[in-house]
Amino acid sequence: MKRAQFLMLAAVSFAACAAETPSDLLEGYEEVDATTILDAPSAIPGTYSPQNRDLVARGEYLVELLGCGACHTNGALVGDPDFDRPLAGSATGLAYTDPMGEKRPGVIYPSNITPDDETGVGAWTDEQIANAIRAGIGRHGSRRIAWMPWQGYAIISDDDVDAIVAYLRTIKPVKHQVPAEVEPGKRAKHPFVYFGVYRSKT
Ligand code: HEC
Repeated sequence: MKRAQFLMLAAVSFAACAAETPSDLLEGYEEVDATTILDAPSAIPGTYSPQNRDLVARGEYLVELLGCGACHTNGALVGDPDFDRPLAGSATGLAYTDPMGEKRPGVIYPSNITPDDETGVGAWTDEQIANAIRAGIGRHGSRRIAWMPWQGYAIISDDDVDAIVAYLRTIKPVKHQVPAEVEPGKRAKHPFVYFGVYRSKT
């Protein structure tokens, strides 16, 4: 297991009020440890043909390399991953509007990408999965997926995206429904983290 070297802020309460100084702005948040990046789970034998062995192995390598588990595994965003349910979605969300400026930012919860038919991507077509990865086209229609770094995945080759899709079909299906997206202004009932980059005004 490897550790990434970046820090995040995790929301622990929703009591933060409109504030004026930087320290007040972080009221209601706590600083958490560096994120844990998980190994990709192994393909289940018998879920793919011998001819696809190399393709599936490449998909596993790419999913690990591209850090999919850092968001899509419960607990990984705050460094306490659920090793029994890798890639089965996160009940900790990502704020996608400014939590410093808004009391209630919009929050999205990284989805379950195991092949469970109801709560994962088991019923998605290969093309739908590929479009989510390379173009950020998800279940929210025209809006591109917030936070998922699909811009960085946009030039993944057809062969490589096929390998990722083939691999995702071979891992253990896990029934786990992640919380629904929270629109800005609504109260998030599940915790969330916020990644931010700030520039000084001077
Ligand atoms: C920085 C966090 C992050 C990373 C890293 C990330 N994703 Fe996502 N992913 C998300 C979020 C957030 C969503 C949208 C959830 C929603 O629409 O409700 C998403 C959605 C998806 C979807 C659409 C499925 C669905 O039900 O919404 C697929 C497929 C997917 N990701 C695959 C991947 C793969 C494969 C990788 C690695 C190559 C990856 N993701 C890396 C955050 C991430």
